Amino acid sequence: MDIIEAINSRYSGRAFKRDPVPRHVLEELLTVSQRAPSWANTQTWEFAVVGGETMRDLREALAARAFAQDERNADIPYPEWAGRHRERRSRNGHRLYEHMGIARDDVETQLNWFVSMYRFFGAPNAIYIYTERAVSDWAIFNSGLVAQTISLAALDFGLGSIMLAAGISYPDTVRQKLNIPESKQILIAIAVGYPDPEATVNKFRTERVPLSEVCTWHGF
Ligand SMILES: Cc1cc2nc3c(=O)[nH]c(=O)nc-3n(C[C@H](O)[C@H](O)[C@H](O)COP(=O)(O)O)c2cc1C
Repeated sequence: MDIIEAINSRYSGRAFKRDPVPRHVLEELLTVSQRAPSWANTQTWEFAVVGGETMRDLREALAARAFAQDERNADIPYPEWAGRHRERRSRNGHRLYEHMGIARDDVETQLNWFVSMYRFFGAPNAIYIYTERAVSDWAIFNSGLVAQTISLAALDFGLGSIMLAAGISYPDTVRQKLNIPESKQILIAIAVGYPDPEATVNKFRTERVPLSEVCTWHGF
């Protein structure tokens, strides 16, 4: 697949077929994604790949905590977006709800939607990315690069994906289910699976601000 086509066609998938992704496909996906750049080739990322019974178990454990509205305490604290970032976040949420036909006062459907994030939107597999705690903020930067590389490479295997802060909101549960020690900082979960092309939610596409809003030019 052409690189520009891949970048343009990637989107956060929120509906998946039930078919699990074979382990050898996930191995190939992660092996090629390890080509991502990192500070001095430190390759600070580590992966925990989840499937089968463990995935079902993790999904239900996280969903139960979300449904109970347990306080979230991700290893990277949730941001308080302000100003134009807050506006973009809010606009995106409204556009998605509108696309899905979820009314602003439909609290029950909104709660179900919220909990489904913690179920990885039904994806059969998830890839957790974590790193040694407190090494450097650059380890987090490195992990962002490998995360996006995974999302793009996934397309070549016919896979959809979505990065989920929801998946790391209860790190004690994740640590316990996946044997990740306290010494590691859990950075992101990526839900992976074969996308359901018919699902309304998968037809949703996000906007981008004009380049002129985020870019200045020098020496031109
Ligand atoms: C670090 C990070 C965390 C995210 N966490 C969530 C999440 O918890 N729930 C969700 O529905 N989407 C999540 N997303 C997906 C974003 O909402 C999505 O990338 C953004 O709206 C742009 O849409 P696109 O990926 O379809 O281009 C996350 C994305 C990133 C990069």
